[in-house]
Amino acid sequence: MKKGLNRQWWKEGVVYQIYPRSFQDTTGNGVGDIKGIIKRLDYIKSLGVDIIWLNPIYESPNDDNGYDISDYRNIMHEFGTMADFDALLAGMKERGLKLVMDLVVNHSSDEHKWFQESRKSRNNPYRDYYHWWPAEKGTPPKRWSYFDVKGNAWQYDKTTDAYYLHYFSVKQPDLKWENPKVRQEVYSLMEFWFEKGVDGFRMDVISFISKDSDFPELPEVYDGKFIPFYSDGPKLHEYLHEMNQSVLSKYDIMTVGEAPGIGLDNALDFVDENRKELNMFFHFELMALDRKEGKTFEMTKEPWKLTAFKKVHSDWDAVFAEKGWGSMFLNNHDFPRTVSRWGNDSKTHWHNSATMLQTFLLSMRGTPYFHYGEEIGMTNIRFNNITDYQDINTINRYKTLEQNGGDLEEFIANEKDASRDNARTPMQWDTSENAGFSQTKPWLKVNTNYEEGINVASQETEKNSVLNYFRQMAQVRKDYPALVYGSYQLLLQADEEVYAYSRTFEEERYLVLLSFSTTKTTKTIDEIDFKQAELVISNDEIYTTGQVNTFELKPYQACIYKL
Ligand code: GLC
Repeated sequence: MKKGLNRQWWKEGVVYQIYPRSFQDTTGNGVGDIKGIIKRLDYIKSLGVDIIWLNPIYESPNDDNGYDISDYRNIMHEFGTMADFDALLAGMKERGLKLVMDLVVNHSSDEHKWFQESRKSRNNPYRDYYHWWPAEKGTPPKRWSYFDVKGNAWQYDKTTDAYYLHYFSVKQPDLKWENPKVRQEVYSLMEFWFEKGVDGFRMDVISFISKDSDFPELPEVYDGKFIPFYSDGPKLHEYLHEMNQSVLSKYDIMTVGEAPGIGLDNALDFVDENRKELNMFFHFELMALDRKEGKTFEMTKEPWKLTAFKKVHSDWDAVFAEKGWGSMFLNNHDFPRTVSRWGNDSKTHWHNSATMLQTFLLSMRGTPYFHYGEEIGMTNIRFNNITDYQDINTINRYKTLEQNGGDLEEFIANEKDASRDNARTPMQWDTSENAGFSQTKPWLKVNTNYEEGINVASQETEKNSVLNYFRQMAQVRKDYPALVYGSYQLLLQADEEVYAYSRTFEEERYLVLLSFSTTKTTKTIDEIDFKQAELVISNDEIYTTGQVNTFELKPYQACIYKL
């Protein structure tokens, strides 16, 4: 392969994200566990994925399902023990699978020993592990909080007559990275897991860690549009570089930052190899595409255009064309299901749109990330009642609206498309009770469409199932390195029905055609000779128009041709 390509396992690998709470329950408490993941390792391997990203499994009071960590070196009781974790890691290594853990260090739980100490007195040795604002200085300058019913990121704490900062829930106090001791604690816990053999970290809201500890007043526009003010703080890159030099650079591992607020203009600051910070990050531009005012966690669904979808991906591909590396995802535990959001989950179009979107992720440059169940086309659950929701984000926003006399019906209608719980329902394994996830009532309702073919066991037996297509397509990515490393050229830029692009690597060129239309489409690309093109894969029967430059696609059809 081309010299200077900088081949890396984390560029070539396909990532499979597991939300442990929802994957497989083996203890009968309605909550998934580590033993459940072990039980399914052969299945995961059979998908053709290479890397598992595990959402947090550390000890936690679960105010935000594990994103509030009370002990970074222990396993959550509900999920099992450290021995279970060691067995999981060993089972993964045996199968050649890599493990990426979640690193949640913008904040800890308020039940973490550090915070328990910190709040005791103003001169406690842990006081400076968190951001405190002494009450005698007056009310702290407004900071907005994601999961706070009042939207206030400052919580008054009586014991020391001071406020602490929490960008997320009141039980998720922000760690003070400005304190070198905090940074050393973080590097040391990272080392603990690397020494165990984990292969990397997905870094939760890493773009928020650096703060101006003077907390200046922010301009009015900040209200509700706070992300640009929270991300890319004054010392962010200093900290990431320090983390790289202190820990990351010592291991053969991968890093992917969750980076709200980071745009095309500063993307390379994180991932330009020469800067020695991270390998890649998740940007939020696509996630904001169909949301009013771009508010990612408060989605009000807005129509989106395919041309805008193409633009996001083309722009981001261009940023990493020479340096750095991108990451590709269409959903995760924070966003609704891929097929329901970007495809079409009606009976007629579900199969093709789910497989078309798989084709997309697996044929773009950038590491592809799939969220458990995406390989079988799991859909949004669309709860009708607030009592069905478990997510703090939905529940607290509902409370806020209730207190302010807002339109609750409209809110519930919106959450059917927007809620994070859509992507957290239990994995659908088979047609037995609770979809084979648990023998007891699951912590979150199972989507009943497991009875209608959206389950692993049924799809195993169908040759053309969404699941088997996923496996084939994952293999195609492995067989054609041009799909990983090749350059990207957008075709049919202004078309609102078909996303077409080619991937070129040395002498090889591949054409990817993706229909986002509910009807049959016929298009022409002058530079392509379809008579010479060789089909690599398609999710539906190919119809040849007989003309040299013209092709026809069925609704949501995807095709890859070797040119
Ligand atoms: C990230 C996580 C999300 C969590 C939040 C606070 O955005 O992905 O699930 O609620 O950070 O930790």
